[in-house]
Amino acid sequence: MSSETGTLTFGGKTTEFPVKQGTIGPAVMDIGKLYASTGAFTYDPGFMSTAACESKITYIDGDKGVLLYRGYPIDQLAEHGDFLETCYLLLFGELPTAAQKADFDYRVTRHTMVHEQMARFFQGFRRDAHPMSVMVASVGALSAFYHDSTDISDPSQRLIASMRMIAKLPTLAAMAYKYTIGQPFVYPKNDLDYTSNFLRMCYAVPCEDYKVNPVISRALDRIFILHADHEQNASTSTVRLAGSSGANPFACIAAGVACLWGPAHGGANEAALKMLEEIGTVDNIPAFVQRAKDKNDHTRLMGFGHRVYKNYDPRARIMQRTCHEVLTELGIKDDPLLDVAMELERIALSDDYFISKKLYPNVDFYSGITLKAMGFPTSMFTVLFAVARTVGWIAQWKEMIEDPGQKIGRPRQLYIGSPERDYPPIGKR
Ligand code: CMC
Repeated sequence: MSSETGTLTFGGKTTEFPVKQGTIGPAVMDIGKLYASTGAFTYDPGFMSTAACESKITYIDGDKGVLLYRGYPIDQLAEHGDFLETCYLLLFGELPTAAQKADFDYRVTRHTMVHEQMARFFQGFRRDAHPMSVMVASVGALSAFYHDSTDISDPSQRLIASMRMIAKLPTLAAMAYKYTIGQPFVYPKNDLDYTSNFLRMCYAVPCEDYKVNPVISRALDRIFILHADHEQNASTSTVRLAGSSGANPFACIAAGVACLWGPAHGGANEAALKMLEEIGTVDNIPAFVQRAKDKNDHTRLMGFGHRVYKNYDPRARIMQRTCHEVLTELGIKDDPLLDVAMELERIALSDDYFISKKLYPNVDFYSGITLKAMGFPTSMFTVLFAVARTVGWIAQWKEMIEDPGQKIGRPRQLYIGSPERDYPPIGKR
């Protein structure tokens, strides 16, 4: 804590509040005692100026377009490492040595199968269910299958639950996909790396051999790295809030999956691709951009804008490169959607509306085109985001549980309803 204080004058009384300084980034004024000393709450819907926790995991400088996991820039991790290395880093705070990495990979791999009864649990869903609805339910259901890792006060159970979720989410995601297309579930194969295994579970069928394309696997692995954590975003804050009551980790991660689904958050990759399809051709862009700028029209440029980034999202740059790599590998020379995306980006980046509001492409702008080229239907895009973000949610949940000062999250409100009144008998209303 710094020796600096912040002062606030309210109701004629000036109160001093301690100021805390992070390693980097803005300082915070600790107003925890504001209500006790002034009788007032702060009001900050959407948490525009509120830090809800201390964290050592991820740092974003939205003005400069910087994203660090445990201090390491996202582009270095995406270029040199693999997803499980990022998982280790997010969970334990340091990059693994070769031996630690081998041990971690081995342990994750050995947890990839799900309880056989999960397959019967799946049969209860309609075949046309959105795979995210299946994910919300099946991730929550893990707590009904793995009772031996739900005691959050036991560090070894917390670790096993964490490993289980990192390992099993891809299996559940692939099952959700297979179920909607009516194909049999494919069991994990332990001699494959994490992402190749996931691709195989999605695309293999029992009647044929399936060979994973290493370029596609590497690209998807990189996409997983880009989505692994993003500090206190809506779904992560949901996980923390759910976890703050002491709920079991599977239930908390299911809450995160539910929050991620919305189009303002993880659902934006699906919405961005649908938007590009709706625009269809480059000549329709100006009319669409006009709608996105019109206050009376609810249209937004999906995959554009971010609460924190007021500069180019560093993930979007890597995603754009990855998109080109995947299309080249798959021999897709002319993807009309890519043409629309690139032209839309060019027009938006030179338009005063977007410049003045600092609206830049975010990670979801190019991810849809890339995932579609890999063969995933749009309904699976947010599911893939959930697979990747699971480790971030878990790391943040663990950090919170292990914080000795942790309290249940309980925001207050500005009540604007009726004052107290008497109950009228039904005939007098
Ligand atoms: N297209 C057109 N106008 C926009 C857009 C957009 N994509 N985003 C923001 N604006 C305008 C908005 O209308 C508002 O204008 P005004 O000040 O005149 O009322 C201004 O910019 C500020 O927008 P806001 O909604 O108050 O900003 P926010 O920080 O609450 O919202 C956001 C951030 C990401 C929800 C928003 O930019 C958005 O809806 N973007 C499209 C959805 C999207 O791509 N989401 C993915 C985010 S990245 C992945 C993730 O984290 O899950």
